[in-house]
Amino acid sequence: MGRYTVAITGASGSAYGMRVVERLLASGHEVALVMTPAGTEVAAYELEFDLPAEDSARALLRFLELPSDAPLRIACCGDLFDPLASGSHRTDAMIVVPASMGFCASVANGLASNLAERAADVALKEGRPLVMVPRETPLSLVHLRNLTTLAEAGAIIAPAMPAFYHHPQTLDDQVSFVVGKVLDVLGIEHDLFPRWGA
Ligand SMILES: Cc1cc2nc3c(=O)[nH]c(=O)nc-3n(C[C@H](O)[C@H](O)[C@H](O)COP(=O)(O)O)c2cc1C
Repeated sequence: MGRYTVAITGASGSAYGMRVVERLLASGHEVALVMTPAGTEVAAYELEFDLPAEDSARALLRFLELPSDAPLRIACCGDLFDPLASGSHRTDAMIVVPASMGFCASVANGLASNLAERAADVALKEGRPLVMVPRETPLSLVHLRNLTTLAEAGAIIAPAMPAFYHHPQTLDDQVSFVVGKVLDVLGIEHDLFPRWGA
């Protein structure tokens, strides 16, 4: 089983991040989740899920309807002493979902000014898979340049772009499609959408 870092940042689409966490845990993987302050606020607004300061992992597992002993750790975004801040801490990959343009800009420029940014910085410097799931439209030249810089540095850019060729019936189907594509990039098994030509 793998050990994954997930960051939920302040772009719209917290549901994608929550579904990634839920799928990884449900498949038996370990997850360390870090939510930026903006990510926490947007999740509270979009999903009506307020991450409590105390016992946050248990609260999120309850929200995701997962067993209370699922291997989830929630790291504090302000804690630069967290294991995620060091390249010597082993993780298999990091997924930033959703990834705001602000977050992409910070990582593209090596700012590492909070734990989520530092963890992404570490993934790049260690040559570990870093999957960024940006959500913004339209994209400015600044956004495009930052995404290009990230791709050049080794990140995988997997934008939150729902498709229609699988005939989605619900919003949930659309979330599943985007999340399934993200898991595909990392070779993680799932049955989130029917495969073309299967
Ligand atoms: C409701 C809401 C939705 C937002 N959606 C997006 C978005 O889709 N993409 C984006 O780049 N920024 C979006 N933002 C702006 C970011 O949250 C803001 O730039 C923030 O500073 C990014 O911080 P971060 O580094 O934690 O992502 C949104 C903000 C709010 C309040």
